[in-house]
Amino acid sequence: MAPYHLLIVLRDSAVRNGGKVIKMVDTVTIVIFGASGDLTHRKLIPALHSLVCEGRLNAQVHVVGVARSALSVETFHERLYEGVVEYARLNPSVCELWPRFARHITYLRGQYDDPETYRRLAEHLARIDAKAKSHHLFYLATPPTLYSVIVEQIGRAGLNHNDAGWARIVIEKPFGHDLESARQLNAQVHAVFHEDQIYRIDHYLGKETVQNILAFRFANAIFEPLWNRNYIDHVQITMAESIGVEQRAGYYDQAGVLRDMFQNHMLQLLTLTAIEPPAIFDAKALRDEKVKVLRAVRPIDPGDTVWGQYRGYREEPGVAPDSRTPTYAALKLYVDNWRWQGVPFYLRSGKQLAKKVTEITLQFKRVPHLLFPENADVPPNILSLRIQPDEGMRLRFATKVPGAGMRVTPVEMDFSYSDRFDVCALPEAYERLLLDAIQGDASLFTRGDEVELAWGVIDPLLKWWENQDAPPLKIYEPGSWGPDEADALMARDGRQWWNVLTERREGKGS
Ligand code: BG6
Repeated sequence: MAPYHLLIVLRDSAVRNGGKVIKMVDTVTIVIFGASGDLTHRKLIPALHSLVCEGRLNAQVHVVGVARSALSVETFHERLYEGVVEYARLNPSVCELWPRFARHITYLRGQYDDPETYRRLAEHLARIDAKAKSHHLFYLATPPTLYSVIVEQIGRAGLNHNDAGWARIVIEKPFGHDLESARQLNAQVHAVFHEDQIYRIDHYLGKETVQNILAFRFANAIFEPLWNRNYIDHVQITMAESIGVEQRAGYYDQAGVLRDMFQNHMLQLLTLTAIEPPAIFDAKALRDEKVKVLRAVRPIDPGDTVWGQYRGYREEPGVAPDSRTPTYAALKLYVDNWRWQGVPFYLRSGKQLAKKVTEITLQFKRVPHLLFPENADVPPNILSLRIQPDEGMRLRFATKVPGAGMRVTPVEMDFSYSDRFDVCALPEAYERLLLDAIQGDASLFTRGDEVELAWGVIDPLLKWWENQDAPPLKIYEPGSWGPDEADALMARDGRQWWNVLTERREGKGS
């Protein structure tokens, strides 16, 4: 992370860092489309504020908010300030840079399909650049239906080029609604920007603990030899949320959990868990390996899927009263390659579940021969990577119970980020990703072919679901772990979800 400290602070210079020459850049202007929306208010501006506070971004960074709402710049600032107070990791109670930062935040009202908006934007950027040349980072934080028109208009206005520096575009998820629309969107974006100007964001990749999957696997010698079909019985990935659909029914009821969580975040966790070590750690090598995993995913058998909807979902404001949208899904898939042949991956995600937890759990094979007759069974080893909350790792293994005989019992070895590191120091996902996009490091962004391959995994299931006259939607109770059928999916294979094990140990489960 060291290069970031000086990034954007110096002008037209180069420094040596660990023997590597790093080109320092001028200032940057970030143009946010959808500036009056939730993402800008809750994530983007708070992230930029924390970066400015830590000196990782110069307070001179310009932000141009573009949106349709009639807002004065003062009202715009007030709204953004509220977001910074509420959501920034470093908020104004610990950092007093807001007035300096806000001085460079402007607002431009306009319709997204109106060339006039982009003509005014070009003039605005020219005025900023007349004082100090800047690179241009466009950020699409609008509803996805507007992406193609905005990209097209940026191209028509010639803003995809920047004589003074680079021009890049960050595109929020969802990237497409299905495989076909993702292909179309890729084609539309590629008509205006080169792939190396495009940063498709998946905020899960900005999470420290998600990046740590790679560190855990490839910076340690002891786990990787076991990380394959010879030792691993199966893998579980859980992304449980306790919240419901909240204020986003308009989007969510069209999307459902497969589009909202599986096509992107879930498949990212899957690929990082399953990839081969890249030869070097750069955007191309890493994404090449991720793409290989996606290519190896066997078409998912609809018989290995469970679809659920929480009770009360249809009464949520904005949800159709007869909605068939799944808010929960569980499924089993296989990665058909040398390393993972025959190892099932069980994935599940849902809203209104018992608790918020994202966890990757690897269950190892049992010992081949049980040596200690006092035990009917010795539970298998389990390694669990806790992505959030209580970020950390847990390894379960058997140990002898003190006393006579050889009775063994499972115990756990725990590593917790908060015990070892100052958790306040963990950057928010958007901080990391914004900085990477500015620095031109696309490793943590989804490449065009990758996004299409991910859709290729999910799309057949969506089509299958949409073609059912009576889709097998299971209603589950809010606060539960989802439909019983998801437990049955595991039980059928003689397995169980890891939360069941945890709760049983804690004396909560059956
Ligand atoms: C978003 C989804 O991408 O991720 C939301 O659209 C979901 O529905 C959110 O709630 C979860 O993100 P996190 O970081 O809270 O796990």
